[in-house]
Amino acid sequence: MAKPPPPLWLLAEVTHSCPLQCPYCSNPLNLIPKKDELDTEGWLRVLHQARQLGAAQLGFSGGEPLVRKDLEILIGEARKLGYYSNLITSGVGMDAARVERFRELGLDHIQVSFQADDAVLNDYLAGTDAFQHKLDMARAVKANGYPMVLCFVIHRQNSHRVSQMLDLAVELQADYVELATTQFEGWALLNRDHLLPTLEQVREAERVAHEYQAKLKGKMRIYYVVPDYYENRPKACVGGWGRVFLAVAPDGVALPCHAARDLPGLALHNVRDHELEWIWNESPAFNQFRGEDWMKEPCRTCDEREKDFGGCHCQAFKLTGDPTNADPTCAKSPHHQVITQAIDSSRLGVGTSKPLVFRQRQKSNSPNLFPT
Ligand code: FES
Repeated sequence: MAKPPPPLWLLAEVTHSCPLQCPYCSNPLNLIPKKDELDTEGWLRVLHQARQLGAAQLGFSGGEPLVRKDLEILIGEARKLGYYSNLITSGVGMDAARVERFRELGLDHIQVSFQADDAVLNDYLAGTDAFQHKLDMARAVKANGYPMVLCFVIHRQNSHRVSQMLDLAVELQADYVELATTQFEGWALLNRDHLLPTLEQVREAERVAHEYQAKLKGKMRIYYVVPDYYENRPKACVGGWGRVFLAVAPDGVALPCHAARDLPGLALHNVRDHELEWIWNESPAFNQFRGEDWMKEPCRTCDEREKDFGGCHCQAFKLTGDPTNADPTCAKSPHHQVITQAIDSSRLGVGTSKPLVFRQRQKSNSPNLFPT
């Protein structure tokens, strides 16, 4: 088999600990406990090996990466190795001085996520009082010369407030805003009846996003992606399995996508036992869905297979029971009715009488999550 191209993008999921409890979290239901996390040396090895392999972009994510006390060490090393590094954070667990320190250490980019534009809804969804602190941290990020990058995760509970979210982004002088529609993995899939927006909500959010895109052209870039449930064609999940994306979970398991550990029969390997080079190039898990040999109809003969690579295998497994099926968000999939049924249920509000399940909160290392 020809050697695959190198990964471009390393996602270091340094912890699953998080002070928030968002019900749309894409982390797995079985969160990795703190005691099983890679230590500092382990993460430094990961950064070195992935860079040697060719990775150029590095995302620190979680959970909440700020709860790792060694984050500064990892950021400093990432700079020395020449990564373009990005911190994906709720902002909870840092203060203005820590942002300044990140800047000095060479962190390139900070993306602050909000649950909503107003304190009540934001803090309800976060499961904790975080809104004011997030505002302060967004301002601290901007004050330190970073481009202001905001992310709002959009779903049924907040989709009606997209214009207010964009007004807040204007107030905070954001340069980029991602209106990230919820991907139904992990806790989000568990809560799908509460989170899947209706078609009317999707259309309205799209209309508002386009209105602001036109109004703020040249000042702020707004990204809004229609949820794949409403697209009729699947997205090329993680840019295609084993093509550009490499994630390492908190316990050191290397993953072709962040949800891959839920796939049955996939022999995943740990960076504690194997070099990343072998895992990326040779391991059966990373080769499982490379190329087209695994494809069945309709993917095998589809003229869009080089664009979407069959879509999301984890979604295919969770919704159809077989990861080699076409992603059922594709209208050509023989299982597409699982999507249309979910959309119908959402329109009718079926399932919303069950309680929303908030992500379980895990203890962090940080003694003070809201430093002043
Ligand atoms: Fe695993 Fe999409 S999340 S392939």
